[in-house]
Amino acid sequence: MALLGEALYHDTLLSGDGTVSCATCHGLETGGVDRLPVSTGVKNQRGPINAPTVYNSAHNFVQFWDGRAATLEEQAAGPVENPLEMGDQWPEVVKKVAASESYRPQFDALFDGEVNTATITKAIAEFERTLVTPDSAFDKYLKGDKAALTEKEKRGALLFAESGCTSCHTGSYFGGESYQKLADSYFEARGGEMTEADNGRFNVTGEEADRHMFKVPMLRNIAVTPPYFHDGSAPDLETAVTIMAHHQLGLDLSKEDAAAIVAFLGSLTGEYKGVPLDKMASN
Ligand code: HEC
Ligand code: HEC
Repeated sequence: MALLGEALYHDTLLSGDGTVSCATCHGLETGGVDRLPVSTGVKNQRGPINAPTVYNSAHNFVQFWDGRAATLEEQAAGPVENPLEMGDQWPEVVKKVAASESYRPQFDALFDGEVNTATITKAIAEFERTLVTPDSAFDKYLKGDKAALTEKEKRGALLFAESGCTSCHTGSYFGGESYQKLADSYFEARGGEMTEADNGRFNVTGEEADRHMFKVPMLRNIAVTPPYFHDGSAPDLETAVTIMAHHQLGLDLSKEDAAAIVAFLGSLTGEYKGVPLDKMASN
C-alpha cells in the first residue's frame, strides 16, 4: 500500500492543472519541505504559511500548524482541494485515478477496486508512515557511540535542556506533542501585517486563549528545513534559536551558546533509506 501511496504522492494527476504533486512542496530530497517562506501552489499562487516537513509527520499528535487535522488521512484530503495548493476537486481526482491503467490493478488488489477519497488518502498516509529518519548522530550517541557527537554538539544538547527548550520541544522528536503560544513580543518584533495564519489554533476553536497557539514543531531534521516558523520569518537556524530563546524564554543567548545549540540541532538530522537527509542529491 505504501508503494501505491508513494506513486500518488509524486503524481501531479492529483492537481487541477496537472502541475503540482505533494512532492512539489514536500520534496523528499529537500528535507520534506520546499525551503520557501510560504508555499507556491497551482498557477504559481503563494500560500499563507510555511510548509512543515512530511518526515516523521506520523509522530505529530495532530497535523498542521493549527492542528486542524487529526490524522494523516484527514490531512492528505486537504491540499488537493485547497485552491492555493493543488486546486482540484476530489470527485475529479477519483475519476482520473480510476481511469488510470497503472493504478487500477493496485486498487483492485488492495481495496477491492474501490477508488475513492478514503482509499487514496489511506494509501498516501501509509506511505507517509514510512517516512522515518533513524540513525542521526544524536541517536548513535544515545545508543552508546560516544564519538558520534562533538564536544560542541554535546554542550548544545545540555544548553537546549538547561535553557528550557525541552519544556515545549518535548519527547524523542523534540516537539509534535502539544500546542504552545508564540509570544506576543515575537509578533511585535517581527512587525508587518498580522495575517490570518498568525492566529494559529484560534482559527480552529475561536477561543481567545488559542490565539497565537501553534503545534510545537518537531526538531528532528530541523537543519535541512529552512526557513523557520509558521511565517517563514527566520532564514536560518541561528536566527530561529536566538528568537526562540529571547521571546519564548526571556533569554539572550551569547553567540557561542546559540552556535552550540545550532550544532546540537544539526546532530538530529537522520537518514531516509540509508542516506543522510543532508547528503541527498539536492543538498
Ligand atoms: C502548494 C504546496 C503544498 C502541497 C502541494 C502539499 N502541501 Fe502539505 N503542506 C503545505 C503547507 C503550506 C502546510 C502547512 C499548512 C498549515 O499548517 O496550515 C502543509 C502541511 C502538511 C502536513 C502537516 C505536517 C505537520 O507537521 O503538521 C502534511 C503531513 C502534509 N502537508 C502532507 C501533504 C500531502 C500528503 C500532500 C499531497 C496530497 C501535500 N501535503 C501537498 C504545502 C503543501
Ligand atoms: C513556550 C514554548 C517554547 C519554548 C520554551 C521553545 N519553543 Fe521553539 N517553538 C515553539 C513554538 C510554538 C514554535 C512554532 C512557532 C511558529 O512557527 O509559529 C516553535 C518553533 C521552533 C523552531 C522552528 C521550527 C520550524 O519548523 O520552523 C525552532 C528551531 C525552535 N522552536 C527551537 C527552539 C529552541 C532552540 C528553544 C530554546 C532556546 C525553543 N525552541 C524554546 C515553542 C517553544
